[in-house]
Amino acid sequence: MEAQKCTLAVYPGSFDPITNGHLDLLRRGLKLFDRIVIAVAINPAKRPLFSLEERLEMIKQSLEDFPFKDRVDVDVFPGLLVDYVKKVGAKAILRGLRAVSDFEYEFQMALMNRKLCGDVETFFLMTGMRWIYISSRIIKEVVMAGGSVTGLVPEPVEKKLLEKLSQETTR
Ligand code: PNS
Repeated sequence: MEAQKCTLAVYPGSFDPITNGHLDLLRRGLKLFDRIVIAVAINPAKRPLFSLEERLEMIKQSLEDFPFKDRVDVDVFPGLLVDYVKKVGAKAILRGLRAVSDFEYEFQMALMNRKLCGDVETFFLMTGMRWIYISSRIIKEVVMAGGSVTGLVPEPVEKKLLEKLSQETTR
């Protein structure tokens, strides 16, 4: 009988910031993969609200109470995602799908990644219904306009968003 292999997936993104939707997807992904690396993209073209260090810190804090945290790693990658996936020895990219509107962007990325590296497959999982309408973008928009996102993001993220809001308003 063949020895059991540890299955590894890379869950890439901007995570600006991580939301409960991301954590839900991670939990679902861990039903299929033994280990998942949350890989934060270093993208000089994007202007994130949070620095790379802040995003990593929020991810790590959000994982503190996460049930399967021992099977999750957090890392950053510059350049091409497929190069990172190959570097860590994975064959799978994990991405979440919420609504039809995500599809075109995800489809394009998955096919480009397949063109760049035919050995790597993208796995799409549906986010839980509770999180179907949330994204990092809408979370930031609501907080910056003075609304509450309690219950939609992990507590350390909500705290950090409020800190950011007070920094922006006292500027
Ligand atoms: O959370 P996001 O912003 O939707 O994540 C997008 C991300 C980081 C997964 C994507 O932009 C990416 O993979 N960037 C790395 C550069 C790359 O490999 N580009 C080619 C594939 S589209």
